[in-house]
Amino acid sequence: MSITLKQVNDIESLQAEIKKWHDAGERIAFVPTMGNLHEGHLQLVDVAKQKADRCVVSIFVNPTQFGPNEDLEQYPRTQKKDCELLATRGADLVFLPSVDVIYGDEVSSDIHVPEQLNNQLCGKNRPGHFDGVASVVAKLFNAVNPDVAVFGNKDYQQVQVIRWLVSELNLKIKVIGAPIVREDDGLAMSSRNQYLTNNERQRASRLQNILQLIAGELRKGRRDYSALSEEATLALNKTGWKVDYIEILRPNLTQPTEKTRDFIILAAANLGKPRLIDNLKCTI
Ligand code: PAF
Repeated sequence: MSITLKQVNDIESLQAEIKKWHDAGERIAFVPTMGNLHEGHLQLVDVAKQKADRCVVSIFVNPTQFGPNEDLEQYPRTQKKDCELLATRGADLVFLPSVDVIYGDEVSSDIHVPEQLNNQLCGKNRPGHFDGVASVVAKLFNAVNPDVAVFGNKDYQQVQVIRWLVSELNLKIKVIGAPIVREDDGLAMSSRNQYLTNNERQRASRLQNILQLIAGELRKGRRDYSALSEEATLALNKTGWKVDYIEILRPNLTQPTEKTRDFIILAAANLGKPRLIDNLKCTI
């Protein structure tokens, strides 16, 4: 491993390192993660390095964003390998806090995302998830004090939540939504792809294909958004998926009208064990 990747576990040491860089006039880009890193995360590091002088990554499996029936305990913890990958990719510092360092005695969310943003798409079936994300990211922002923060656009709703958070708390952090990184067949990279069986993996790019098909229909002039989503849901369900939602919205996640020209098409669906999400922007 390169010796240039600093590893810190507590906020005091983290802030001492960051202060040295800020005092030297350097800008800090921050990539928050829950570890189990893959090429998608590493490309966030690449973006961070282009946008600032120093790249700080956090690895923290955040308990408050997992529901009672979700995979918190099983969530893969691969810290040693993650740190090796980060070192090779040229990150400057990795922050590896414990639950205690982040939350102290009270492991709960103190930030509540507004309903119109929270109660749709992934928030609908994952109550409390985005409150947990917003709360931990606020704590991490406070600890790291970055100039820039980079998130993957695969989690499109999450990026909108972070933009809301930054505006709500008047933070001077530039939020960057980085492009989705895909496998050769179009499947969006995700830590959850490793749970697909070989057979499921061969069918996994259909999620992306269906988004492309919808975009094609919008380009042909269809404006019956609900019917279009329903057709796509039926088509995907017929091939062994279990669709949570397929929605055609405006980029700010509000309902489109007849006159809308810019769309975001978003989907979440289970293929066997894993729940996969994807989205596609489309301008007509
Ligand atoms: O996208 C993730 O990995 C997490 O939701 C984040 C932003 C690191 C917060 O725990």
